[in-house]
Amino acid sequence: MTIKKLTVFVLLTGIVCTTGHEFVSSTEKVAQLFNEEEDLLKSFSLYIDAEEKNVERMKSVLLVLQLLTYFDPANPEKTMRDPVAAYKLLRRVRSEWLTIVEYTQLSLYEVYQTLLDYSNIPQPEDLNNAASELIRLQEFYKLYPHNITRETSLNADEAYHMGLVAYNENKFQHAFLWFLYSRDRLTENSTTTEKKLLHFLSSSAYHFGSLPVAIYFSQRLLNLDPTNDEVKVELSLYKHLRFERNSNPDIFSLNTKSNNSYEALCRGEVDERTSKRQRALSCRYSTGGGNPRLMYAPVKEEVEWDEPRIIRYHDIISDREMEILKNISRPQLSRSETIQGVTNIRTSQSVFLEEDNTVARISQNIADITGLSVESAEELHVQNYGIGGRYEPHFDAWDDKNGRIATFLIYMSDVEIGGATVFPKVGVALKPKKGSAVFWYNLHKNGRVDLDTQHAGCPVLVGNKWVANKWIHEFGQEFRRPCSLSEWE
Ligand SMILES: *[C@@H]1O[C@H](CO)[C@@H](O)[C@H](O)[C@H]1NC(C)=O
Ligand SMILES: *[C@@H]1O[C@H](CO)[C@@H](O)[C@H](O)[C@H]1NC(C)=O
Ligand SMILES: *[C@@H]1O[C@H](CO)[C@@H](O)[C@H](O)[C@H]1NC(C)=O
Repeated sequence: MTIKKLTVFVLLTGIVCTTGHEFVSSTEKVAQLFNEEEDLLKSFSLYIDAEEKNVERMKSVLLVLQLLTYFDPANPEKTMRDPVAAYKLLRRVRSEWLTIVEYTQLSLYEVYQTLLDYSNIPQPEDLNNAASELIRLQEFYKLYPHNITRETSLNADEAYHMGLVAYNENKFQHAFLWFLYSRDRLTENSTTTEKKLLHFLSSSAYHFGSLPVAIYFSQRLLNLDPTNDEVKVELSLYKHLRFERNSNPDIFSLNTKSNNSYEALCRGEVDERTSKRQRALSCRYSTGGGNPRLMYAPVKEEVEWDEPRIIRYHDIISDREMEILKNISRPQLSRSETIQGVTNIRTSQSVFLEEDNTVARISQNIADITGLSVESAEELHVQNYGIGGRYEPHFDAWDDKNGRIATFLIYMSDVEIGGATVFPKVGVALKPKKGSAVFWYNLHKNGRVDLDTQHAGCPVLVGNKWVANKWIHEFGQEFRRPCSLSEWE
């Protein structure tokens, strides 16, 4: 490789190494990775073909060089005393070398270059992020390694990586459980060793505060490695500490208590709608108050909650329309932001769609159903949530002139596990149902933010969540939802 090419190589790897990817926040990015993998293997195959051709060519060059020396042999004795013969030999060797160099580096670089150009290859940072997300999901949904690996198991090395990521985030209980899982799966082919695992098992238990467990694993490590002085020191420290402390938390069992209503709602532990109050809520067909466009195709409307009033509209968008919206969005998705920019409060990929025929038809449909004007509404906002994708409790509206008076949230996919929309203040969890939408007013009639409309998108545990949001603003609604000066409306 020449210097110039080497520089390009270094530059490229430099660029590649500094950019992490958003695999975690979007299932779409993961889907792209499948194509990328197929492509990558194809490029490798092309590269091998090129290598083979080059090897053939080099063999024939070698043959030519051998023939030349055969027909024009240099006589060592003559060359050593005849300066012209020596000169000839020098030239010949030089020329051979140039030829060899030329052929060994020939044109393969271009094929090689296409291999380097895979900018989407997951970086170590991406692997860590994905592991980190899995651990967050475990914390959120209180899952053991064996719960989360029921469908797809991890080998000892993968589990060890999970443990390390948890350990580095000071999540010592999850780290411990992963190291334990890894140890159960050690084989002669694992890179991870029993010694490393014993060390981390002991250390995680120590940090978690389970000294008897830390002592147990340190002792096992010492049996395996009797001359290890570090372990001896640790062991005596743990034994000493054990007498000073009297608490001994159980590192093997996850604490399943939670007083956070957002998380409990997401886990399905509470849902006020199962109470008596729910039975009073109703289901009916609506024509949007006699809207002519809905007279012959009324929408199925279900009251999900009364205060704040949350209405679910069923089958308001066709499969084809949803597919079109996803198709338009896919190439434009980028990491969603909040007022604070990109944060872990909101992990999804999203895009505001410009009006085209489909988007305009959906907007009109929303106006017809809600009876509100969408003139001052924001563009339709499509979001895709990947592994662990979530949006922590937030308000859609804030005190503002022309605030977001109402939210129309369309579910464009079912989600197998997780991904509910929850209202922690009132204890309601709404499951995504493909083709349906939910609607609520964020503002009281007097213009104040209705604090009960605080809501969250639960982390997606299994599945792929697509939603489209239409945020409708106050301007234009003066005659549609008259304001009120009352404190209570
Ligand atoms: C996880 O596993 C534990 C114990 O095996 C079980 O009791 C629990 O229900 C599982 N949790 C989930 C969410 O599957
Ligand atoms: C270890 O690798 C060898 C060679 O790939 C394979 O034959 C063997 O089954 C593997 N052992 C285990 C326990 O996976
Ligand atoms: C969406 O994109 C896929 C893949 O490119 C294509 O097969 C499908 O026909 C598109 N659907 C619509 C409704 O445009």
